[in-house]
Amino acid sequence: MKSDFLVIGSGIAGLTFAIHAAEYGTVTVLTKGQAIESNTAWAQGGISAVLDESLRASGDNFDKHVADTLDAGAGLCNEDAVRTIVEAGMETIEDLIAAGVEFDHAHGDESQFALGKEGGHSKRRILHCKDTTGLEIAKALIKTAAKHPNIQLLEQHFAVDLLTTAKLGIATEDRAVGAYVLNEMTGEVKKFRSDRVLLCTGGSGKVYLYTTNPDSSTGDGLAMAWRAGATISNMEFAQFHPTCFYNPSATGAKARSFLVSEAVRGEGAILINEKGENFTLKHDSRGSLAPRDIVARAIDHEIKKTGAACVYLDVTHKPKGFMQERFPHIYNTLMSFGHDCEKDPIPVVPAAHYQCGGVATNVDGRTTIRGLYAVGEVACTGLHGANRLASNSLLEGSVVARRALVDILKTFPLNKKSLTEIPIPDWETGNVTPPDEQVLISHNWDEIRRLMWDYVSIVRTDNRLNRAARRLRNLRKEVREFYWGNTVNSDILELRNLVATGMLIVDCATRRKESRGIHFTLDYPDKNDAYLSDTELRRF
Ligand code: FAD
Ligand code: SIN
Repeated sequence: MKSDFLVIGSGIAGLTFAIHAAEYGTVTVLTKGQAIESNTAWAQGGISAVLDESLRASGDNFDKHVADTLDAGAGLCNEDAVRTIVEAGMETIEDLIAAGVEFDHAHGDESQFALGKEGGHSKRRILHCKDTTGLEIAKALIKTAAKHPNIQLLEQHFAVDLLTTAKLGIATEDRAVGAYVLNEMTGEVKKFRSDRVLLCTGGSGKVYLYTTNPDSSTGDGLAMAWRAGATISNMEFAQFHPTCFYNPSATGAKARSFLVSEAVRGEGAILINEKGENFTLKHDSRGSLAPRDIVARAIDHEIKKTGAACVYLDVTHKPKGFMQERFPHIYNTLMSFGHDCEKDPIPVVPAAHYQCGGVATNVDGRTTIRGLYAVGEVACTGLHGANRLASNSLLEGSVVARRALVDILKTFPLNKKSLTEIPIPDWETGNVTPPDEQVLISHNWDEIRRLMWDYVSIVRTDNRLNRAARRLRNLRKEVREFYWGNTVNSDILELRNLVATGMLIVDCATRRKESRGIHFTLDYPDKNDAYLSDTELRRF
């Protein structure tokens, strides 16, 4: 299989890129599972954007959005990247509307968008489609991509590893030339060749026991880029969302996986403890609407101090019918769990939510390997620094996807001699057999997620990180043996990628001997400007 552009992932980043690139050449989009299975489709709150002059009734402007992003990022954002992305907000909204997304309008005024608010934003600037913004975006982009004759969208195609000239032993400057890809329906691994490879595989929430993320978020792109030799940055900044529904009647990871959007707090919901006190005010004057790292830590502190299983998000003071009208998905899902949020405060706990670090790129998505671009949650552009500002990620995915195309067309013009003719060996299956001990995979999968939750989550220590590193090294050895001894399937591949992701998080966290943004360690509880730079890891 050969195409001008090879895109891995069908979320906002991959599909935005594909739709625009298809105007210039052939595009193959690969996605494991179904195209709609992505973090994008699960996004609730919305997409932040400062709109045109005429729409800036609230006095918002780019400088304020930039300042809020820098403040959340705790000194580690790249200000140029922040400004570039923020200033492309209006263009991004227009792009999504052109793809068919219908954002909500203010009541009774079709000329004004309804703007929501989330933690760390000083102004209302979040465009949304009720509380299923991501689903509307995903559906519109998939529909637009599916109609384009230049786009081939292949579901159940799992990218296993990147193909680069260095890996193939070809003596030239290291270049990406494609990927080995598992067809999940037939079990075959095939070569997909392209001179322009886009990693848009999303995040890695599944490395933690409790997460808001869908099952697809297993750090595949990150691990593939790492194995290929790309630089990885800032993986210590794994963001925890403060408010996941705590469902004591469910078991295991399902007991806390349904997100209750921060936008609910933006509309006045307040976090309280069992005594009804707004404990967040003791931690930050912005209370329940402080940036996520502060609120998640405040909840963690409260739960540990009181021994309670959860805290509560109180919306009972809002007028009856408000939740059903503004947040119907959340209201109905909670109802399906037997919880009426208009009558009783919602029990909530934090859960892993977003990967702020990732494959190091510039604001055009360029990685350290030529011809390999990373866009969206898999990438680390410098926008988020040590903590992402809410609703900035959909914006980033869309903006950087369009910028990456401009950069690729300039750097790797379509009329230039292609590397896709170079010989690439077929995937070697060797003497392996199908795995007959599925329990080994599920056991290791659970072990990784549990140890990451226990030792590497909201509050860390050197001791916990060292213990996690030791356990992960053992698990990596076992998983390697399993990987080389059995025919590959999605479960083994995800397990292999989860171990790599866990190790990258622990490695980065161990190097940062301070507390900053999301990374908090009891051994170094304060910021230390000796560490005021990105954590960078390179395999070769
Ligand atoms: P994704 O949308 O995750 O897409 C990744 C794609 O890659 C998927 O299709 C996946 O199947 C595919 N893939 C992965 N590995 C492979 C592989 N090996 N081979 C082939 N395909 C692969 N952000 C906001 O800005 N606003 C919000 O309101 C918001 N709410 C959120 C709510 C929830 C519950 C969650 C989980 C996240 C939320 N986020 C929000 C974050 C945001 O949704 C994501 O950061 C963003 O959608 C990531 O987009 P992406 O295109 O990079 O990745
Ligand atoms: C939410 O709706 O709370 C999630 C927003 C985000 O993660 O950006």
